[in-house]
Amino acid sequence: MKTLVLVKPDAFGKGHTGDILKRYEDEGFKIVAAKVMQMTEKIAAKHYVEHIGRPYYEELVKFMTGAPLMAVVLSGENVISRVREINGATNPEKAAEGTIRKLYAENGSKNAVHASDSPESAAREIPIFFSATEIFEE
Ligand code: PPS
Repeated sequence: MKTLVLVKPDAFGKGHTGDILKRYEDEGFKIVAAKVMQMTEKIAAKHYVEHIGRPYYEELVKFMTGAPLMAVVLSGENVISRVREINGATNPEKAAEGTIRKLYAENGSKNAVHASDSPESAAREIPIFFSATEIFEE
């Protein structure tokens, strides 16, 4: 099973990427793809297609396209639900103690990480960022 994680521009810019990826590795997940990149508006519109038209969409795209981020594919058992738990709630005020968002997120927008929320989302999102030859399965 695989999931897409984005270390968002806030956390990437502040140098938290190593600590965040270590959390996932310490939980037993493998990094099978990774790249530093800057999201374009075209990629943002694909990735956040379900959010187009929502009141926060413009702000979300401005933030996500404004500076580099790190895209990662993680592999492991129950990786989709476990990574969502490790990340914590979207809003850091609601995120549980010890979660990545509790530690590193500023608010519901600058919230450090994105992770796929279902197998369908992971299957849709991963190819937006990685070609098959960039993913190294065990
Ligand atoms: S939903 O409806 O449950 O899917 O929405 P949610 O998971 O809460 O949020 C979806 C993504 O939109 C971002 N978001 C925002 N960005 C900017 N401003 C505001 N107010 C805002 N509210 C939500 C949120 O960080 C989610 O980004 P991802 O990348 O999916 O974590």
